[in-house]
Amino acid sequence: MAGEGWLRVLDVAGLDVEALRALVRAEMAGACAVRLRHATPTGDPLTFWRAVGDAIGVASDIVEDSATGAPRRAPGAWMDVRFEPDRRDSYRHHKVGQPLHSDGAYTPPEFAQEIALFYLERQARSGGESLFVDAATVAAHARAQAPDLYEALTTVPVHFGKAGAPGRTATVLSTRDGRLKINWNYFRVMPGQGEAVDRLREAFRSFLERMIEDGVVACFRLQAGDAVFFRDEEVLHGRRDFAAEQSGDRLLWKTYFMPASAAA
Ligand SMILES: [Fe+2]
Repeated sequence: MAGEGWLRVLDVAGLDVEALRALVRAEMAGACAVRLRHATPTGDPLTFWRAVGDAIGVASDIVEDSATGAPRRAPGAWMDVRFEPDRRDSYRHHKVGQPLHSDGAYTPPEFAQEIALFYLERQARSGGESLFVDAATVAAHARAQAPDLYEALTTVPVHFGKAGAPGRTATVLSTRDGRLKINWNYFRVMPGQGEAVDRLREAFRSFLERMIEDGVVACFRLQAGDAVFFRDEEVLHGRRDFAAEQSGDRLLWKTYFMPASAAA
């Protein structure tokens, strides 16, 4: 086992579904993200990983329509983050790097989910590194290096949304039930919120890019078969660009769970 406190990295070769369920439940109790390497699923990997995830929450079956991006419920479904050569309109299907963000930032509140699961079926032949940073690290760096930005991140409410449909309204950093939360997607800040939000939007974008350059953000390359569980409201995630030509040259699957208490 290795990793910083908020990010656990575990080699799980040979563990069966019951052992993994117990491990993930224990590790996610204290971490924001758990990266599982060298897993050896029996049967269909997506069915296997869903069964693991069921140990920490109720599968929410939320998928975004590939063409419109609108969320909907589809029992048993996973979202494919699949490279497609003709889909430069969408980060989901493009090979460009994706800036740090949280998935739930712009989602209509009834669709926002707490725990995300990535399963990488195929990695690009080069690039495609995953980026993760927890809210506490972002807060500590902002407080120390950019106090004005930190003030804005903790006090200025920001409206997020997509295609005119409202998502969350929240400060970027907040505390709920004693846990630090982060809510951010540069591209989903609704327009027309005034100068304070415009300033925060640009300043935080630059700040996060510097954090990546400075090596403060965890950067690792998933291998085919690896999985990551993470608390979407407590970390930001993104990816570096990658090499791809054909449909599916890189293929990541994603699904979500709600803790049983929250889903009840
Ligand atoms: Fe995402």
